[in-house]
Amino acid sequence: MGTTVVVGTQWGDEGKGKFTDLLAQDMDMVVRYQGGHNAGHTLVVEGNTFKLQLVPSGVLYPHITPMIANGVVVDPVVLLEEIKRLSAAGVDCSKLVVSGNAHLIFPYHQALDVMAERHLGSNKLGTTKRGIGPAYADKAARVGLRVQDLLDPKIFREKLAMVLHERNPLFAKVYNRLPFDLEAIAEQYLDECGPLLKPHIGDTVGLLHQGLEHGQNVLFEGAQAMYLDLDHGTYPFVTSSNPIAGGVCVGAGIGPRYIDRVIGITKAYISRVGSGPFPSELTDAVGDHLVDVGQEYGTNTKRRRRCGWLDTVMLRHAVRVNSLSDLAITKLDVLDTLDTIKVCVAYEVDGERYDTMPYHQSAIHRAVPVYEELAGWGCDISGVACRSELPKAAEDYLCFIEEQAGVPASLVGVGPQRHQYINFSSTVDLVNPTR
Ligand code: IMP
Repeated sequence: MGTTVVVGTQWGDEGKGKFTDLLAQDMDMVVRYQGGHNAGHTLVVEGNTFKLQLVPSGVLYPHITPMIANGVVVDPVVLLEEIKRLSAAGVDCSKLVVSGNAHLIFPYHQALDVMAERHLGSNKLGTTKRGIGPAYADKAARVGLRVQDLLDPKIFREKLAMVLHERNPLFAKVYNRLPFDLEAIAEQYLDECGPLLKPHIGDTVGLLHQGLEHGQNVLFEGAQAMYLDLDHGTYPFVTSSNPIAGGVCVGAGIGPRYIDRVIGITKAYISRVGSGPFPSELTDAVGDHLVDVGQEYGTNTKRRRRCGWLDTVMLRHAVRVNSLSDLAITKLDVLDTLDTIKVCVAYEVDGERYDTMPYHQSAIHRAVPVYEELAGWGCDISGVACRSELPKAAEDYLCFIEEQAGVPASLVGVGPQRHQYINFSSTVDLVNPTR
């Protein structure tokens, strides 16, 4: 089995949590490699719903070591609250390891995120306001503090003093805001969070390689998605990290030759939260239907998601950039009651047809979708357990996606529960590879 990466192929909220959880059962480690608590992965296990933000999905299996690698940005207050919530629900978090090299999110990052959005007015990005962008900006500017600094009060204070010396005048003069108090932050981060996080802080790169050398199986859990990628997404309406499969190498510290399989999680339609182009967006009753049936509201922010038809121009590009080996299609059941289903197969921009993703952002903004229309299946598929039980029209829809993408749709989700999926492949069973 080796190493598997799970990556979203759209704008996030593809239902990555469910398949990450299913794929995790035979893994030894599950590793988050980018993003922070802007993510929200929902898992439904035996009727219980778990909403994870920072802790990797594998935490629900006692044999797995969940790891938050160096590429993640960590708000220690949020992480400790999540650990507390999970522990209260009977989930053992004692094996969680957090990289000492992961960068910390501070209250001033969150304040900057909120104020930057306010200043952008109608051009705002629609961020989650969690301080993600400003924390990654500090990392790139080399003024960030890292998780390891929580264990060294002297260094922590020195670095924080330097940052606040530069930041506080900005808060006062530009944003008309009270300065941040070093002692108040130090008390919360060093005195309260530091001791509680200490047993979890470690060398995730070392542990990962030790595991690989012993033949362990590792799952890399992407948060956000391809089109929210800082380099390959619809910039500037993106997050500030690299969710693409290549992000694993930097964000977790392994070379590309160690990645065996890349599974692209693809919702049977598309949704997006926040601003930015969305060629196949539906602003009509069908769009509302997808929001209602698919419960398309943010896991953390509760924001209503914009919905639209599946876009295979985007999907083909995601296959290329991530070298996807398989697709896992999610939420197919949400389309159950539609008479017909459209799929965007190309764009038209100023009279020119694009079968591949236009590189120029303005073209994506002006893209008019070219649709193919397929028949709906008009029945409840949430109880379907294998490919042969699927209605013909549903099977045709999945085969159409495979043909458009050029990679197999090996797994298909038909409901939120752990058991509600089918193995669509006749050659592999990704969830139970040894069976
Ligand atoms: P940020 O990651 O909070 O900076 O937000 C940047 C963009 O990414 C915004 O459009 C957010 O709505 C979007 N975004 C960030 N995290 C997620 C996620 O987990 N799912 C969906 N969209 C997200």
